[in-house]
Amino acid sequence: MHWKRSTRWMAILLPVLFVAPTVAVTTSAQESENLYTSRLDLRMGRSVFRAQCTTCHGLNAGGGNEGVGPDLTTGRFRRADSDLGLYRIIRDGVPGTSMTGVGTDASEQSVWQLVTYLRSLNDFSSAADLPGSAEAGQRIFVGKGDCAQCHMVNGQGGRLGPNLSLLGEQRDPETIQAALLDPNADVDPRWWTMRATGPNGQSFEGVRMNEDTFTFRIMDAEENLRAFSKYGDWSYERVQTSTMPSYADNLTVDEREDLVAYLYSLRSKP
Ligand code: HEC
Ligand code: HEC
Repeated sequence: MHWKRSTRWMAILLPVLFVAPTVAVTTSAQESENLYTSRLDLRMGRSVFRAQCTTCHGLNAGGGNEGVGPDLTTGRFRRADSDLGLYRIIRDGVPGTSMTGVGTDASEQSVWQLVTYLRSLNDFSSAADLPGSAEAGQRIFVGKGDCAQCHMVNGQGGRLGPNLSLLGEQRDPETIQAALLDPNADVDPRWWTMRATGPNGQSFEGVRMNEDTFTFRIMDAEENLRAFSKYGDWSYERVQTSTMPSYADNLTVDEREDLVAYLYSLRSKP
């Protein structure tokens, strides 16, 4: 329960601030342990990363072009084996390389938030007992499988399918495996497709966003929202199948195992 710990620190630090405002109290919490691990910290870390680090390390920290900056999502760091080690590299850089670090002017908090963000990218531990590799699964998810086109994970990806950020808490590995093989088996009405056909034969199709007695709205493959009246000249039909293709043939058994390991590792971060 990290929030409890930070509240405790606040309780210790705040009175000190009032009693002895000239003492640099914040150094007491520095460089020992990451106290900035909330979801908000994670988001802040991600936005600083986007602003300052992606030119070399790539948009999602997966490594830049032509080896400018290494992949930071593998769960292993060459230069650091602890949070504190990461903190120091991010602050001080790696001497003699283009990795200059954010410097000592950056706030401690923002450096720790970057550590939190980097850690969030590679916490695959909960899938450790599964046959597949979560790390490889993550690459397939954004790469060959192109799953991110429809699915959001931790704020990145599309909205044409369910957000999978917490899937490991919601489904067991067998259920995840089954979803890849037979997406039509059990489609929640939330994900039904609606097809609307106009008087001149024009038609639109998309995920059903909402529907009431008089209207319905769909989101098409480009994520455009369109609203229709049920009583105009447009006809409509519901398609109760999934827009998700089956991956029984498009991916190998090993690739599916890797995806299952990756998806099962997705849980709420501390
Ligand atoms: C100008 C390019 C550049 C920028 C900008 C940059 N880095 Fe780096 N980074 C590198 C290079 C190159 C290395 C590899 C250095 C080495 O170990 O030889 C590296 C290494 C690292 C490492 C150590 C990786 C390991 O395996 O030990 C971390 C962590 C890191 N960078 C984080 C960041 C963060 C966070 C930011 C943004 C605040 C950032 N970098 C900005 C180029 C950059
Ligand atoms: C064209 C859009 C699209 C693509 C591409 C896609 N999906 Fe889906 N996915 C959906 C939709 C819509 C659903 C919800 C309906 C259903 O259950 O099939 C879904 C459901 C799922 C579920 C079940 C979620 C749950 O709550 O149980 C999993 C797991 C999943 N997708 C994983 C993947 C993976 C892995 C890939 C890539 C190999 C992928 N999807 C590619 C649209 C897509």
